[in-house]
Amino acid sequence: MILNSKIRTIKWENNVSKMIDQTILPNTYSYVEVKTIDKMYENIKNMVVRGAPAIGIAGAHGVVLGAYELEREENDILKYKNKLIDRSNWLKTSRPTAVNLRWAIDKQIEIIKKFEGCNIQRLIDELVENVLKLENDDILINQRIGKNGAKLVNKLSAGILTHCNAGALATVGYGTALGVIRSAFANDKTIKVYANETRPRQQGARLTTWELIEDGIDVTLLTDGMCSYFMKNGYIDMVVVGADRIALNGDTANKIGTYTLAICAKYHNIPFYIAAPKSTIDINIKSGNEIPIEMRNDEEVLIINGESICREGTKTINPSFDVTPNDLITGIITEDGILYQNYEENIKRLFNL
Ligand code: MRU
Repeated sequence: MILNSKIRTIKWENNVSKMIDQTILPNTYSYVEVKTIDKMYENIKNMVVRGAPAIGIAGAHGVVLGAYELEREENDILKYKNKLIDRSNWLKTSRPTAVNLRWAIDKQIEIIKKFEGCNIQRLIDELVENVLKLENDDILINQRIGKNGAKLVNKLSAGILTHCNAGALATVGYGTALGVIRSAFANDKTIKVYANETRPRQQGARLTTWELIEDGIDVTLLTDGMCSYFMKNGYIDMVVVGADRIALNGDTANKIGTYTLAICAKYHNIPFYIAAPKSTIDINIKSGNEIPIEMRNDEEVLIINGESICREGTKTINPSFDVTPNDLITGIITEDGILYQNYEENIKRLFNL
């Protein structure tokens, strides 16, 4: 059974991009409109929109916004196409780790390159059509991931631990890891979710608890250091998290702290699953060593709610993601089924390589 989520994170409507402002959740729930490609770059970088699949869609929207802006300054179709491709490639640099951003923008670039006519409006119509398709596909894909993953929940009242937010808010709707949880909840209303706080941006505390409570799913907030306690004491039956990029060998980049969680799960013999669409698999890189890790600013660690929590002069460093080696991953749940070891062989089969 599939449970729908009420949350629609991002949508293309009336020629603008509309997105939930995730920097002010859970206290304020409101949409912002994005009308320029520059503003889209800023919103992706500042995490007004975040989560790998959601920033992919935001990127595709950004290309359309860029297309409208360029239409006012360039009417030579060849020059127009080249300028739009340059702007689109620049937009990819707003966040480096999630491959979905590049994937979705590349889908738009393919359309620009293939377009043979001279009518710029027609090209823009094609780009908009693709945006609507990507949005629609995202929800359907997440529902399939959810359905596949729910089969792994094999006891009543299971305790499921998740990290960061891989939910409706990280996608167009429904979610990947939280999609699995939503589908499991549709089968068993007594599941118990444990959400890691996720320092420093607190996506677990601010976003995951908010969206699960919205859907009436039981959720308990843990701070990041509590996972071993709860695993040892029998609260956790499985871990399911999302992914920002999966290498050909199954190594997986996800929010900082995921690697620790996987090590703890292995020690306690608890299955550790990644839930992600195929668009998160980067078949061009052989291992996690090739995944670029976004380093974010120190203030995210040193300042909470506008107040410094450390003595002046405290040093820190803020890698936003870590890479979990494939041997700590029990399975990767995709829309086309669950992958197990040997990941390289199984990913190649999945992509017909
Ligand atoms: O920095 P964020 O909030 O964009 O990081 C998000 C995550 O790490 C998610 O787990 C990942 O993007 C998967 S979202 C379905």
